[in-house]
Amino acid sequence: MKAQIKPGKILINNEWTEAASGKRFDVINPATETKLTDCAEGDLEDVNRAVSAARRAFEGGAWKKMSARERGRILNRAALLLDKYRQEIAELETLNNGKPVSETLHVDLTLAIETFEYYAGLADKIHGETIPVNGPFLNYTLREPAGVVGQIIPWNFPLLMAAWKLGPALATGCTVVLKPAEQTPLSALRLGEILIEAGLPPGVLNIVTGFGPTAGAALARHMDVDKVAFTGSTDIGKLVMKMASETNLKRVSLELGGKAPNIVFADSNLDDAVNGALRGIFFNQGEVCCAGSRLFVEQSIHDEFLNKLKTKAERLVVGDPLDPKTQMGAQVSQEQFKKILGYIEQGKKEGAKVVTGGAPAHTKGYFIKPTVLEGVTNQMTVAREEIFGPVVCAISFKDTNDLLKQANDTVYGLSAGIWTRDIGKAHRFAKEVKAGTIWINCYNQFDAASPFGGFKQSGFGRELGEHALELYTQVKSVWVALD
Ligand code: NAI
Ligand code: MG
Repeated sequence: MKAQIKPGKILINNEWTEAASGKRFDVINPATETKLTDCAEGDLEDVNRAVSAARRAFEGGAWKKMSARERGRILNRAALLLDKYRQEIAELETLNNGKPVSETLHVDLTLAIETFEYYAGLADKIHGETIPVNGPFLNYTLREPAGVVGQIIPWNFPLLMAAWKLGPALATGCTVVLKPAEQTPLSALRLGEILIEAGLPPGVLNIVTGFGPTAGAALARHMDVDKVAFTGSTDIGKLVMKMASETNLKRVSLELGGKAPNIVFADSNLDDAVNGALRGIFFNQGEVCCAGSRLFVEQSIHDEFLNKLKTKAERLVVGDPLDPKTQMGAQVSQEQFKKILGYIEQGKKEGAKVVTGGAPAHTKGYFIKPTVLEGVTNQMTVAREEIFGPVVCAISFKDTNDLLKQANDTVYGLSAGIWTRDIGKAHRFAKEVKAGTIWINCYNQFDAASPFGGFKQSGFGRELGEHALELYTQVKSVWVALD
């Protein structure tokens, strides 16, 4: 074991400190239900100190004077260091979140490294334009950093969500106060150490660990924060937007929940589609905002498809997340564990049938068996609300027009999957489904270069790719009289 577990502190101005209140909270290993360590419980006063440090770093000093290319070099060094410490950080993430080490090693770490590499490369390619206006004027735009940014992230991909947020914010020259989820603060703190090692000047990145209603809300409300980026539940996203509008009208971007349709047509390659359905819902224990949680299956293949799905779901290895052979680990917390089991009961009450799973997988730790529900209708609670666990709701369909209506009949719009060999049908659906990402004959594909974000109540703003630069910059138009 390479992971080093140590008590977590708050990072302000490149210094590690206790919370002003002196309070600490426990960090749990969800696979064993035991305490891993504890962490400083930041609150309003700590957020105030962190925002002051971020403001000083933004307005003056080394960060402001640094060239964009040098900022890129720091991000690149961070990518190299993440790779160097890959095993250690993967284990740390697995211990804190419960997800399998095979995934933290090859998904979370790989994508986090690629995100830093990608924004390292973009840092010196952010520029304005010259615009041909009427009259004797030169008009050009400057693309300037948004300023001091507050970033509130969830527990399902703790390191990767930090990377998605920090990569573009630092590339554009913003300074940051990051609040990790209280369940999973450890990898973000390790990332803070790595960014300091990579050469980030004091105050550029500040990390305040603590709870949502205290530390998170203080950040969303803060009068001196110019922008807040949030990933988490739709309810809290709405609250963040309200807090931002009630104070200084800071800019907001939100990446929220989902209830994605994953649609299997009879003309698809069934084995690929079964694997895609599995990957769509059981990857990361189903704790994925874009999980393919509503599985629409064409009636003529419904039974055959569900049989294959059942067989494969039952073969998934659910267990010790540190074992390289494990395919599904523990849910992140007792709260989520209970919530998911509650949804399964609710589904049964409303008439869904458990094809497989539906119960805890072990007596210790927050493990849940891969669960397939059939006979679900799109009106049932389990098809309408985000379960955020390894529970897929199979809905049979016959009519394609009705299917499209049902696919779009949700308050969410983060992603959708379509399995068919008919390319016309696939592209028609890609156009008509109201969602920010469409996967055709694949699922849960990600790349640092490809934008990600929601339609409808899944939020707004696009992370990743060049689009994320829009979240962290603002445009200034400059007019010059030529005579
Ligand atoms: P949450 O939305 O409460 O937490 C996400 C982040 O927001 C955490 O850092 C938390 O500390 C912070 N937060 C909580 N209350 C806040 C407040 N009043 N002001 C400012 N920040 C606040 O999500 P939670 O309670 O952990 O999970 C509940 C459900 O949310 C899950 O079951 C799932 O359905 C959904 N969720 C969706 C995620 C996504 O990626 N879209 C990620 C995590 C949860
Ligand atoms: Mg919450």
